[in-house]
Amino acid sequence: MTIKEIFDTMDYGPAPESAAEALAWLVDQGSQFGHFINGSFTAPGQTFESKNPATGEVLAELTQATQKDVDAAVKAARAAQGAWAAMGGSGRATYLYAIARLLQKHSRLFAVLETLDNGKPIRESRDIDIPLVQRHFYHHAGHAQLMDEEMSGREALGVCGQIIPWNFPLLMLAWKVAPALAMGNTVVLKPAEYTSLTALLFADICRQAGLPKGVVNIITGDGAVGEMIVNADVDKIAFTGSTSVGRKIREATAGTGKALTLELGGKSPYIVFDDADLDSAIEGLVDAIWFNQGQVCCAGSRLLVQEGVAERFHQKLRARMKTLRLGDPLDKCIDVGAVVDPVQHAEITRMVASAKNCTVHQTAVNMPAKGCFFPPTLIEGLSPADTLMQEEIFGPVLVSTTFRTPAEAVELANNTHYGLAATLWTENVNLALDIAPKLVAGVVWVNGTNMFDAAAPFGGVRESGFGREGGVEGLMAYTKPTGALDTLNPVGAFEGDDKGAAPAGIDRTAKMFIGGKQTRPDSGYSKSVYGPKGDLLGHVGAGSRKDVRNAVEAANAAKGWAKTTGHLRAQILYYLAENLAARAGEFAARIDAMTGKGDGTVEVEASLQRLFSAAAWADKYDGLAHGVPIRGVALGMKEPVGTIGVLCADEAPLLGLISAMAPAIAMGNRVVLAASQAFPLAATDLYQVLETSDVPAGVVNILTGAHKDLGDTMAKHLDIDAVWSFSSTDLSKMIEAASAGNLKRTWVNNGRAFDWSRDQSKRFLQAATEVKTVWIPYGE
Ligand code: NAI
Repeated sequence: MTIKEIFDTMDYGPAPESAAEALAWLVDQGSQFGHFINGSFTAPGQTFESKNPATGEVLAELTQATQKDVDAAVKAARAAQGAWAAMGGSGRATYLYAIARLLQKHSRLFAVLETLDNGKPIRESRDIDIPLVQRHFYHHAGHAQLMDEEMSGREALGVCGQIIPWNFPLLMLAWKVAPALAMGNTVVLKPAEYTSLTALLFADICRQAGLPKGVVNIITGDGAVGEMIVNADVDKIAFTGSTSVGRKIREATAGTGKALTLELGGKSPYIVFDDADLDSAIEGLVDAIWFNQGQVCCAGSRLLVQEGVAERFHQKLRARMKTLRLGDPLDKCIDVGAVVDPVQHAEITRMVASAKNCTVHQTAVNMPAKGCFFPPTLIEGLSPADTLMQEEIFGPVLVSTTFRTPAEAVELANNTHYGLAATLWTENVNLALDIAPKLVAGVVWVNGTNMFDAAAPFGGVRESGFGREGGVEGLMAYTKPTGALDTLNPVGAFEGDDKGAAPAGIDRTAKMFIGGKQTRPDSGYSKSVYGPKGDLLGHVGAGSRKDVRNAVEAANAAKGWAKTTGHLRAQILYYLAENLAARAGEFAARIDAMTGKGDGTVEVEASLQRLFSAAAWADKYDGLAHGVPIRGVALGMKEPVGTIGVLCADEAPLLGLISAMAPAIAMGNRVVLAASQAFPLAATDLYQVLETSDVPAGVVNILTGAHKDLGDTMAKHLDIDAVWSFSSTDLSKMIEAASAGNLKRTWVNNGRAFDWSRDQSKRFLQAATEVKTVWIPYGE
């Protein structure tokens, strides 16, 4: 191209980045890799090819790990973990800092290798992926340094199995490895089979940094290797990838005691209001859906535009699409590179081809004839229920629709089973801050999109998974409370024989507490409750599936509770405490009669304290404002999880129930409580206290009956957002496995018996809340 031609067309000339050094590095390694286990590379085994998706050229051969390899990696990680944790935070900080420095020193090599391997434009790997990777290690070096002081009472989980996808290969590695190491864990990480090269280069960096052997182990291979890691002797699985695999992992880890975080798919809305700065919103949209060829879990893949500007916005969008440059990812002038693999390309092609009754708009300026390129695509005119409006396409494909009012925008935005991210665009600060809390998403960007930082928690709600990565919240997922494990065996109820005779003063009508009313059990059955000497104390209803459903319905009807102020919730909790205190003697006597332990007075006093603690926290358990290194602030807002089902402890029939209920409702949740199975009468006595304490109907629902049956129904119920089980350990597996349906949050007794005598309200508050990270423009 001549200079005159350039001036005539104003076209970009090619500006290719050299691949020479990255290719030379691969040749230096023999273009064949084994795994990185216990500080060194193993000899290559049975290999598979890793290709450049832009050209189809083979870059290297990688080893498919065997069970023996996985076992060796886990063994090395296990052997290294004790010393790594014992070294202390400041010692670990030194290594993380050294890794960050080395990543910086070799940043271009990493960027080029990433682009060769994944197909993403060099501009993105150079300016976004790799700088964020460095930032992650620097930031977490700081968290390691501060751990001893800031995380007292918590310790490393142990060995973490980490399975990552191919869309941000090194960045996902950094998100997982940096916090794990900072908190004293060791890791066995499996990169995605398409994109393992930067992980192997990272292994070399660990060696250069002098990281102790076994702290980081990297093994390569496909999903079968992922499965082996999930089933290995590890203490945690951290997974990012598809929702279907996430669900399988939830089922496979159920009842094993392995901690789990899942960062899964999304179909994130991109909302443009009629007063938005449309040109900025267009540029934002380019970042939302054509960044990384749309292979981004939080891609703004569903465009919602307000009707008044829809026509103009779409015109601008189509015009902008024509200027997107598609091509050689190593060219610095390229906007859209290659998708990761022919398999992914075929899947995107299939999904787009399935679109019916709509307009498909594609621009493919200069699209290379060869390679895995897919043109930027806009699909208009689909209805909200269409598959392409609901399912993740994971390619450069945008679907769009319009809305009339902000309320309709919220309804459309939330009409998805995912809940990862959302973007909204408006010049009206009131509107932005009114809509942000209403969006069901773990991350909300205001007048910007796809912004990430190590200090800002990232993660989803609903079927986008659970757990957060980044920030202090991310560290919680790599630590556990200190203390030994202890299996909790079922507590048996006392037996007796009343031969149908009801002692005087005992009300035979056993009831549940649902929607603020005492209702009869749907089953029509009740059970006798006996004291230690076989004396009949009363009767309780045998709760059934229908009772759980009724209670969930009542809880959902009380959604308004989430919007009340912490101040109001505190007042109600104080009032509850006051009313319970007035009947303290009666409750203590009831507990003593049921358990025969004689500690009823102590238990009631502790229950009152828990109510006071929860009331105290109701208006104080606030979020955090995260300083992020761009023009903006990321607000970590605490939101209630929703409806929580709880199997209450048997060891402390009143205290166990109140310790879970009080913090949950203090944070704005509604609860469905299954009373202690062995000693349920303290819970049924509580109905009257609740009725007289201004607790709105449906906020607290109490059922009696078999934990196994109630827990099973709760775990499977799609409108329950979390299940906590303080019942015996043998129920944990069933609950975790059944929760996979809607990927609800679980907190089960996996051999960690709870010490009810200690006030641990903060652990409940944490489990009762979800962090929503809201990015807003702020500062210069
Ligand atoms: P995937 O979920 O199958 O793969 C992600 C990682 O999990 C890879 O390392 C893979 O080897 C591993 N894996 C696969 N099966 C496993 C199993 N049963 N147990 C343990 N590990 C397993 O994702 P895939 O097949 O690469 O992409 C399919 C779709 O998933 C994409 O089209 C996209 O919709 C979605 N996806 C979402 C991502 C996200 O960040 N949310 C990332 C990648 C894919």
